Amino acid sequence: MPSQPIRNVSDTALWAAVYRARETERPDALFRDPLARKLAGARGHDISGLLPAKHQNDWAWITRTVLFDRFLLEQIASGADMVVNLAAGLDARPYRMQLPPNLHWIEADLPPLIAYKEELLRDETPNCRLERVPVDLSDRNARKPLFERIAAESKRAVVLTEGLVIYLTREGVGELADDLAAIPSMRAWIVDVVSPGLREMLMKQIGKELSAADAPLLFSPEEGWTFFEKHGWRAAKVQSVLHAAAELKRLKLLFRFFAMFPPPKPPLGKQPSSAIVVLER
Ligand SMILES: C[S@@+](CC[C@H](N)C(=O)[O-])C[C@H]1O[C@@H](n2cnc3c(N)ncnc32)[C@H](O)[C@@H]1O
Repeated sequence: MPSQPIRNVSDTALWAAVYRARETERPDALFRDPLARKLAGARGHDISGLLPAKHQNDWAWITRTVLFDRFLLEQIASGADMVVNLAAGLDARPYRMQLPPNLHWIEADLPPLIAYKEELLRDETPNCRLERVPVDLSDRNARKPLFERIAAESKRAVVLTEGLVIYLTREGVGELADDLAAIPSMRAWIVDVVSPGLREMLMKQIGKELSAADAPLLFSPEEGWTFFEKHGWRAAKVQSVLHAAAELKRLKLLFRFFAMFPPPKPPLGKQPSSAIVVLER
């Protein structure tokens, strides 16, 4: 394994793709992403080997994807004409999901990640109108033209940030929330929120490697999803990842035991937990 398998924040996208590849290869897969193995490549494999018990966390990653798929399809069924995937990484939903061919789908991520993805997917055909935008989303000025285009080109947009906000500062997430809320056509935002306890646990497991790559985990608000209220968003749906994984029958005995207790509500503390939240304006 290379001495620094995670070189930068974009390498975490390779890691996410490995989980989707492993799921795809299961006989009882909850979704199939035939491009994931190619996108993850050998580096993705090295990165996933960093964790002490490598398959222990699969259920959390896979359930997150299943919930994002489910909430996204609900938004499309209720008339979304644009999907904006911020920090799309190596996500291949436009290729693996059945979508209205006219749906406008925008993926944004850092320029080197977009270049890598464009190269690997050159010969693939998406199931909707897909475009990719290379941009540093933590830079307000750099993302402004993209947000202006979203306002101009959609009537009803939904934004996804899957695995992004945890890498941003509290202030940065607040500004992003403000800027998204200022887009008149932006109806819903699907986002994952982790508790302070889960962030701490993950930093113990892999914090050294993430910090060395300048990609520490930062955002885990005690207020949970109510954090977004000051920024123009209210939680229309909150789904605990643990409880959804129990329903999907993907938990080992100990976690099944934890899932017998009700999902935590804000303020979130030391208890490790995560939720997928649908925010509406
Ligand atoms: C854990 S990956 C998640 C990728 C994808 N959403 C998924 O679930 O597979 C985090 C992604 O955030 C992107 N990212 C982090 N900071 C970013 C920034 N400032 N601007 C754009 N993208 C960023 C990384 O390049 C990476 O693709």
